[in-house]
Amino acid sequence: MIRKKLVVICTALYKIRMMRILAIETSCDETALALVEAEGKEKPGFKILGSAVHSQIDVHKEYGGVFPTLAKREHIVNLVPVLAKVLKEAEVLKENPKALPKDKKEKIEKILERENGLVLPLLNFLEKYEKAELDAVAVTRGPGLEPALWVGINFAKALASAWDMPIMPANHIEGHMMSVLADTGAEIEFPAVALTISGGHTELVLARNWRDYVLLGATRDDAVGEAFDKAARILGLPYPGGPEISRLAEQARTDAEQTRKSTEIIPSKSAPIPRGSAFRLPRPMIDSGNYDFSFSGIKTAVLYMVREIPKMTEEIKKLIAREFEDAVAEVLVKKTKDALLEFNPKTLIVSGGVIANLYIRSAFEDTIKDFPETKLLFPQRHLSTDNAVMIGIAAAVRMFSGEAGVSADSEIKADGNLRLAGVS
Ligand code: KG4
Ligand code: ZN
Repeated sequence: MIRKKLVVICTALYKIRMMRILAIETSCDETALALVEAEGKEKPGFKILGSAVHSQIDVHKEYGGVFPTLAKREHIVNLVPVLAKVLKEAEVLKENPKALPKDKKEKIEKILERENGLVLPLLNFLEKYEKAELDAVAVTRGPGLEPALWVGINFAKALASAWDMPIMPANHIEGHMMSVLADTGAEIEFPAVALTISGGHTELVLARNWRDYVLLGATRDDAVGEAFDKAARILGLPYPGGPEISRLAEQARTDAEQTRKSTEIIPSKSAPIPRGSAFRLPRPMIDSGNYDFSFSGIKTAVLYMVREIPKMTEEIKKLIAREFEDAVAEVLVKKTKDALLEFNPKTLIVSGGVIANLYIRSAFEDTIKDFPETKLLFPQRHLSTDNAVMIGIAAAVRMFSGEAGVSADSEIKADGNLRLAGVS
């Protein structure tokens, strides 16, 4: 009897310490899945067994931004092929054709009744392949575009129901924050300050411990990435504009450096554009004394600036792009520095699509030199933009913190405005 009990306890502990999580992320315009193996508790470690991101950029490009119903339609088309790709990469996709029991089929049809077009491919998949050995399925429930979030949630429910797994709903922002843990050896020590900068979000958070967050500030209007995208559009650059602006800004810095070398006139390679110059952009809310941001003003200033220019040239675009990047970086660094001074954290996390930007990365690397007691963590560059690895990690962190997954029959609601702090 005692022996049997011991075996049960050991299995339970084992389950807490080592988990395989299939993660699904459909909050915006990327259909992403990943299979993540999580181990540990206080110091969790993660192995990416498989990961794939199907970008819809080409579909949304002509609209200059993401179109929610189109995003939903694309997720429906891509989810099953991306699932197969990830399970194959993780070497857990095994053919074993068999008919699904009628009741299971009916349940899946019911779960997916609003995701027109997803039932058939999923049923075909489930009848062709064996159940993969997984401990849980994680899915983003917010924030994001609700029609897109719902597809992911219902897909997770259908899979969980077919393969008898619990579901762990995840917060997209927490996912970005936890994406830094995908690096072997990366450790978050608390308290931590976390800045998330992406196309949809700009949030500065104090993490007192795992899953214990206080929102310090957020954008009052546009997110940073959104400002990059809108400014790029004004300059006639394609969507998404972040990488485009960054490319031009980099060229402007290289040009300035070359000019400096040949003439020795410009004192430094990143000599700022002086106040009052025609190419100077504002640094909104930089001295506001709080942790909120505002980026719509910079975009509007770019619009007015461009209107005043009789003939746009590639050289002028480069100068504007560089000034835009400088302005954004200055604001982000200033607010973060204030938080470092106030909270003296052990870790600074900067995550989200915009931290794929090398110039902004280097601005934070320079800043942290003045804070020797704080270590700086970034996600790997390719995990800065949306992916499902980060969702798997965020779900594992929840489970390690004692939160149990829910069954496929539970109500999981998409929440486009889900907040990180104060909301679970
Ligand atoms: O995290 P993400 O993939 O999606 C959201 O959660 O919103 O972030 C996408 C955003 C886009 O606005 C894109 O322009 C921006 O990240 N981005 C960049 C760079 N690469 C992506 N912004 C500036 N520089 C980059 N290199
Ligand atoms: Zn994101």
